[in-house]
Amino acid sequence: MSREELITMTRSLIAHGEADTMELADEVVRVPASAYTDPELFELEKKNIFRRLPLMVAPSCELPEPGDYKAMDICGVPLLLSRQKDGEVIAYLNMCTHRGNPLASGTGNASRFTCGYHGWTFKQNGALLGVASPQDFGAIDKAAHCLHRFPVYESAGLIWATLDPKSQLSIPDYLGGYENLLDAFGFKDWTLFAQRTLSGPNWKTAYDGYLDFYHLPVLHKDTFGADFFNRANYFFWGPHQRLSSPSKFAQKTGSDEMLDLSQMSDDELPDDALTQGVWTIFPHISIASFYGGGQRGAMISQLFPGDTVGESYTTQFYVMENQPETEADVKSAHEQFDFLEVVVRDEDYATGKRQHEALQSGLLPEVLFGKNERGGQVFHQWVEKLINASDGDLLDLFAPEQREAAG
Ligand code: FES
Ligand SMILES: [Fe+2]
Repeated sequence: MSREELITMTRSLIAHGEADTMELADEVVRVPASAYTDPELFELEKKNIFRRLPLMVAPSCELPEPGDYKAMDICGVPLLLSRQKDGEVIAYLNMCTHRGNPLASGTGNASRFTCGYHGWTFKQNGALLGVASPQDFGAIDKAAHCLHRFPVYESAGLIWATLDPKSQLSIPDYLGGYENLLDAFGFKDWTLFAQRTLSGPNWKTAYDGYLDFYHLPVLHKDTFGADFFNRANYFFWGPHQRLSSPSKFAQKTGSDEMLDLSQMSDDELPDDALTQGVWTIFPHISIASFYGGGQRGAMISQLFPGDTVGESYTTQFYVMENQPETEADVKSAHEQFDFLEVVVRDEDYATGKRQHEALQSGLLPEVLFGKNERGGQVFHQWVEKLINASDGDLLDLFAPEQREAAG
């Protein structure tokens, strides 16, 4: 089913490529510059978006084995992911139920968690196993003091969690089947090669950069090249979007050879060509395929708001189909990953930081998103809609009937 949908998108990209056209938005859209600089709005975004909507918190290959865990802090919420013996991932509030001390930090493998403050222990499944010096502490109902859980969902080799324990929003409803398309990458069988975290500008300034190809031949002329194609067609699934070049060509995996997709039957279209471009998951993920180290790879960029309105941080996960084995392949995979770091850190984020400082002057009232920048238009519309939505509105927005009605 998902291959059919991918083929339909690819045929549309080919047709636009042959006609030398692209899909344009209806109009140029204006966004107030304060959307990037207003500290009150920033607090609202953290509260109503990051602390209320499902977030893609880890690729599955970051926690491949039973007992693997990862602790994170997202917009002030301590999260602990733990893979159970049966393979299921549980997402906990990373707070001991005694006095709230975080139970784990970083990543590791553990069959139980012992709190570093007074020594209470919890099973991998969050059950309170033991109270230290129970004869002195006094009687409590252990079953009522297990770790608190967040809604969690694993699909397509990616793990989502919602940082609101009371959330009524189903994560599959929020994704609306988009995860079945992401499944085409095959991440559930891939491995994590490397990861790093970069500091960036305001989270929306940073995310804008993943949503257009317009800037590629200009900002990235020294890395991607000045003749890079600057057009993208957009495909939307609710707030999630894919952007891909309207072209009949695709690079053959692992070579410089260009394939003419228009000459191929549906069955002949290679998987890589079907997933070309950038796939984003609202509000903070961007996925793009690369080749390096003799393997198919992808960079999954995971973006979070930082401490202030002008700061964000991005973890880049470099996932690969298989671990490169020879020294030369390992070196070439690192080179590919380092190249992507330079592109994002020294070009996208360095520009975003300068742009943010200038916007802080308050002297430019609004910024523009052209008809060819539909991704940014739609992103900002969704942010606005979601920060103003009540919890009830949220359920309506992502209700499956709603999606069907919207087509
Ligand atoms: S806070 Fe964890 S044992 Fe006291
Ligand atoms: Fe860029």
